[in-house]
Amino acid sequence: MSDRVHIVEVGPRDGLQNEKTPISVADRIAFVEALIGAGLTAVEVGAFVSPKAIPQMVGSAEVLRGVSRHVNCELPVLVPNEKGYEASQAAGAKLIAVFAAASESFSRANINCTIAESIDRFRPVLARAKADGVRVRGYISTVLGCPYEGEIKPQSVVDVAKVLWDLGCYEISLGDTIGVGTPLKARQLLRAVAGHVPMANLAMHFHDTYGQALANLYAGMEEGCRVIDSAAGGLGGCPYAPGATGNVATEDVVYMLEGMGIATGVDMSKLVAATNVVSGLIGRPPVSRVAAALNAKARAAK
Ligand code: HMG
Ligand code: MG
Repeated sequence: MSDRVHIVEVGPRDGLQNEKTPISVADRIAFVEALIGAGLTAVEVGAFVSPKAIPQMVGSAEVLRGVSRHVNCELPVLVPNEKGYEASQAAGAKLIAVFAAASESFSRANINCTIAESIDRFRPVLARAKADGVRVRGYISTVLGCPYEGEIKPQSVVDVAKVLWDLGCYEISLGDTIGVGTPLKARQLLRAVAGHVPMANLAMHFHDTYGQALANLYAGMEEGCRVIDSAAGGLGGCPYAPGATGNVATEDVVYMLEGMGIATGVDMSKLVAATNVVSGLIGRPPVSRVAAALNAKARAAK
């Protein structure tokens, strides 16, 4: 496995959307800039969602405008409906992500509608995005388990993936929202979805609640998947996914990939520095094992 992997850094969105400490727009811009400076080529900067649902993402327009001069980095933002689409366009978004779920209960909790209703909301968004030349990514949550319904059948994920793909999403990101997956299940899921959406257009978005995310990613890579969502420091979680912890840490992913001979273009020391700044703001050390190890090494060397 020595080919290219595309990392989508989701720390400024998924990472910060669940934090109790409010992070200012200026600090969020600085975080995104630091991640881009570390060599990441896709950084999800925010979400155009209801401020009542996710107050942490208020100011996403200012964050996007603050960093949008970077031509070599994709800056996706979450959009749940046409209202969000309009706000994203006013802020200059060139890449948006709609987000559905594989389980009805999570769909209801997260975006207050059924899966079918969510697709009806995305339909005009995708049509407008196509007309405007805006690319659309499609997330599916709870692909390996739901906090309310437990086990999710791969077929439920396939059904939603097919619809999002047919609607025109260029990539489908499979979210293990509560991090319950294991390598065999991740592998089976990818195989099932790849029967309908090309593997080249699938992404793995694995939270690390049970410590399986890296193993799941490796299994997915063996199946041929080459897009990985991760968050600096292992930040992350969804307010509507009780018990879920952070995304797989970007540092840990980069360390694994480089160890496999896959060049990421990411400068680890700059990445850890970006993580450390955010850790200071939220008042918690990074959960990333690699960031913790490198920080300990740096302290010992002083
Ligand atoms: P709703 O209450 O059904 O929407 O919420 P509504 O259309 O009835 O509107 C209610 C109010 O929200 C109105 O305001 C609207 O104007 C406003 P009011 O009249 O009460 O003052 N509103 C909006 N405001 C700003 N931007 C918008 C917008 N739309 C409506 N776009 C809605 C439905 C989807 C809006 C709401 O449930 C919501 O915003 N949910 C967001 C949930 C969210 O962001 N969750 C986290 C991201 S998903 C995730 O983390 C999973 C992922 O990481 C993958 C994985 O790990 O699985 C992607
Ligand atoms: Mg997530």
